[in-house]
Amino acid sequence: MLVRASLHRDFKISTIDDRLYSAFIEHMGRAIYSGIYEPGHPEADSNGFRLDVLDLVRALKIPAIRYPGGNFVSAYRWEDGVGPKEQRPVRLDLAWRSKETNQVGINEFAQWAEMADIDMMLAVNLGSRGLEDARNFAEYVLHPSGTYWSELRRSHDVNKPYDVKMWCLGNEMDGPWQVGQKNAREYGHLANETSKALKAINGNIEAIVCGSSNDEMPTYPDWEREVLEECYENVDYISLHKYFGNSSNDTLNYFGKIEETGRYIQAIGGVIDFVKAKKRAKNDIYICFDEWNVWYHQREEDSRRWKTWDWPEAPDLLEEDYNFEDALFVAGLLNEFIRRSDRVRIACIAQLVNVIAPIRAEKGGVAWCQTIYYPYQFASLYGRGVALNVSVDGPTYDCSVADDVNYLDVAAVHDEKNEKVTLFLVNRHLEETAELDLSLHGFDTAQVVEHKVMEGFGLRDTNGPDKPSAVAPFDGVGVGVEGCQVKGKLSPLSYHVVRL
Ligand code: AHR
Repeated sequence: MLVRASLHRDFKISTIDDRLYSAFIEHMGRAIYSGIYEPGHPEADSNGFRLDVLDLVRALKIPAIRYPGGNFVSAYRWEDGVGPKEQRPVRLDLAWRSKETNQVGINEFAQWAEMADIDMMLAVNLGSRGLEDARNFAEYVLHPSGTYWSELRRSHDVNKPYDVKMWCLGNEMDGPWQVGQKNAREYGHLANETSKALKAINGNIEAIVCGSSNDEMPTYPDWEREVLEECYENVDYISLHKYFGNSSNDTLNYFGKIEETGRYIQAIGGVIDFVKAKKRAKNDIYICFDEWNVWYHQREEDSRRWKTWDWPEAPDLLEEDYNFEDALFVAGLLNEFIRRSDRVRIACIAQLVNVIAPIRAEKGGVAWCQTIYYPYQFASLYGRGVALNVSVDGPTYDCSVADDVNYLDVAAVHDEKNEKVTLFLVNRHLEETAELDLSLHGFDTAQVVEHKVMEGFGLRDTNGPDKPSAVAPFDGVGVGVEGCQVKGKLSPLSYHVVRL
């Protein structure tokens, strides 16, 4: 199939916020315990942090990480996780029917985040708790000294306050599964008041209010409207969550869900604009897509397991094995975030280690990269700069979730500082090679400096501890610049990162 495309250096969508490539890690399953933290593991440092996992995390150059939940946060008492470890209580984690030992809390996590060179994005409990505990936590984290909570932090050997800018006001508060679920009006009011209190402690913070748990919730999108009507002027972002899968074994429909996600983002953009107009507000609110990933391989089985198990400690949970098809999906979804970067400022892959994660780590054993690690890594490394509009003229398909889906998915990012353009391309056609003919306007001297490709794998191929690099990128051939045209043949079901 022939695909003509065109881009111009002045036709910009938006400057991409680096935080588009953020991540999320929750106290659940083996994400924290035996994921990032496993005292006694041969690769652990003196604080118990696994350095093999840390190396894989560092290579992703993650700008920010959301912590500690997720559903977990809605019944979490943050004070349980500070002070001498031997005095910390073991509690029931009501979200995942597990035991929480509290051996990792805010100070250990901050230490890990610093080693990983990642900013923290903290969530407060607005489920079982409320404004009072949120303000205490914020004072512990943000205030320099001389008050009860800041001095408590100092007594825990953390002299300086943490520089935490992003604060999530609860998690999925519309969900019937959430401890302390609320209706839109009561949550919106609580979020408004909590945000005001946190901003009174530190005027530089940004607050993220919960949108719907996903776009299939019965209260979506009225939830967003009502919540924002209660708190618009006092918050900075609204969160979106969405998980994906191909349970019906229909690859093209699976990829069509990326288009559907674009509609989801567009709809919330419309709600934001509506409320802004209604309130005659001056401030803008952006989208924080703070949970996204593929989650379906063992979802049903896992949910049967954890709903009946007997409160285990750090059990294996949601340890999805991602395949090549999932890597193509993730590549396309990241392209959509780039194309929507005028609205979506922050996005977090959910999650980072072991639990629905690009990185896996065996207890006492090795760590490896799943297939989806690579498109996430490439986007994070090279998807920074200005998102350019790309007009694509090529064959499309219809599927049950979307119509007119381009077989060739293209996103382009201009790194103006280093005068580099990166093209991210996914050929979603099951059989046909895409013959690309892309006109570059305003990049007269462009040449291909690097071409990485993932192609030729079976859709169900995965990596694992015994085959850590079975599905991994390699150098591509056959894409070049002729005059101002990027030309090349992209094989069916392939992913390309072309750096010019
Ligand atoms: O990421 C797993 C769970 O998915 C999170 O705890 C929750 O917010 C979402 O439903």
